[in-house]
Amino acid sequence: MFKVLVADDDFDLRASIASAFADRNYRVDHASDGEECINRVRGGRYDLVLLDVNMPRLSGLEALKEIKTHDPSVTVIMLTAFSNVRDAVRATREGAYNYLEKPIKADSLVYLVEQAIRAKNMVQSLSLAAPVFRLPSGTDFIGQSQEMKKIFSVIDKLSQVDTAVLIRGESGTGKELVAQALHYNSPRKNHRFVTVNCSAIPETLIESELFGHEKGAFTGADSRKIGKFQYADGGTLFLDEVGDISPSMQVKLLRVLQEKTFSPVGSNREIEVSLRIVAATHRNLEEMIKKGQFREDLFYRLNVLPIQLPSLRERKNDIEALTSYFIEKFNRRHKKKIGNISPIAMNLLRAHHWPGNIRELENVIEHAFVIETTQAITPESLPASIQNTAISILKLGILPSLAPAPLLPVSHSRPGLTFDEENLNLVPQRLDFQVNKEEFERRFLIRALQQFKGRINQTALQANIPKKTLLRKLEKYGINARDYS
Ligand SMILES: Nc1ncnc2c1ncn2[C@@H]1O[C@H](COP(=O)(O)OP(=O)(O)OP(=O)(O)O)[C@@H](O)[C@H]1O
Ligand SMILES: [Mg+2]
Repeated sequence: MFKVLVADDDFDLRASIASAFADRNYRVDHASDGEECINRVRGGRYDLVLLDVNMPRLSGLEALKEIKTHDPSVTVIMLTAFSNVRDAVRATREGAYNYLEKPIKADSLVYLVEQAIRAKNMVQSLSLAAPVFRLPSGTDFIGQSQEMKKIFSVIDKLSQVDTAVLIRGESGTGKELVAQALHYNSPRKNHRFVTVNCSAIPETLIESELFGHEKGAFTGADSRKIGKFQYADGGTLFLDEVGDISPSMQVKLLRVLQEKTFSPVGSNREIEVSLRIVAATHRNLEEMIKKGQFREDLFYRLNVLPIQLPSLRERKNDIEALTSYFIEKFNRRHKKKIGNISPIAMNLLRAHHWPGNIRELENVIEHAFVIETTQAITPESLPASIQNTAISILKLGILPSLAPAPLLPVSHSRPGLTFDEENLNLVPQRLDFQVNKEEFERRFLIRALQQFKGRINQTALQANIPKKTLLRKLEKYGINARDYS
């Protein structure tokens, strides 16, 4: 039996929704305001909540946040009057599955709910097949390589204890996701996960940011403020880029970690908190300790349980799974239907060095979405940096096999591509003059636009194409010069 909660202050609407589900295998409960809704969600397991945007006592958006913190697997569909559609759209960014505009039509409602159930079942079966941690932010934390499976099992174990964890790894390797996974798998998951980005807060403000301040504690402190330590009480405090804090803040931080109490700026009150500290840095703290830039005692306090995240180049087996995941994500975001990636493009992704790790891969796939007009990601939709570095690696023969091994289905709507090893050019497979000529022209234009940053006049001049011809060809091949600016 599928359990649905309808939260809306309009009695008639709740009654009509209940009757829409009457003959089906659903149990429908009601809540007439935001707080009642939250209490019910906390009290019993609901699969789906239909949530009014505008409700007394606690708004739909606030209720959504509470529901997702309590149990991220609950599907939420917002119900909204036309005047609140913007809030409903915002809600979908914050984890709601979708929204329905009032007046609610019974058949659209049932259709959407059943679609949500199917999606939920699919996600569950997928996550059994592929190791992923689903985070409440809607991000899936993907990892199929041996290296990441080890990290997942470490996260599983460490989330059950309260000791400080220090996450280390190059930029873009997923340190923040690890911190979230630790929190949302821990007994503290129903409390807050609070992030402090230590490198983004100016030295003069960080103390009040962490510990709060009294009214009038310093110029500009017009009112009392609660610090992040207190805000995170009961939950997890994530100190991101902890290697960037100043020596004087290091001393203060050490004191809180030792004594579990602190005083807001301008106050003698001692506040006691219970929270878990997770910290992260991409810096080499041992080096910093040697140079006197980071306190050794603080290091040992933070580094009780270390997690070292491998770089993407050390776990190339994850590239395919991550690529499919990002393709799905950007299909949703850009409302496109790119279902394929050509085997050569996949090989180029495998060959790249990925200094920016997963963040770089994510950006590369999004870049491909912006410029790709066909149904597939092709080598040309990858940035020049990937094409060049990868091709030079391929030239050196470091990549064991050029045999394309597509994991994603390859499009048949365009001529297939193979790798011409002799001159390292990408050429169409079919021996057809017209097809080859057009393919060459298309690639030539894209390369030229990349080189001259999408500037039409300069491209025409430098690449020696009459401007009129250039514009005509761009139109013919559906290439938008602005995508390369
Ligand atoms: N295993 C993964 N599965 C899915 N997405 C991931 C994974 N690892 C990282 N990402 C995505 O890559 C981006 C970078 O991850 P994150 O911010 O956690 O990295 P970081 O190590 O904290 O980087 P930095 O040191 O630059 O702060 C994010 O958008 C994140 O969602
Ligand atoms: Mg980070």
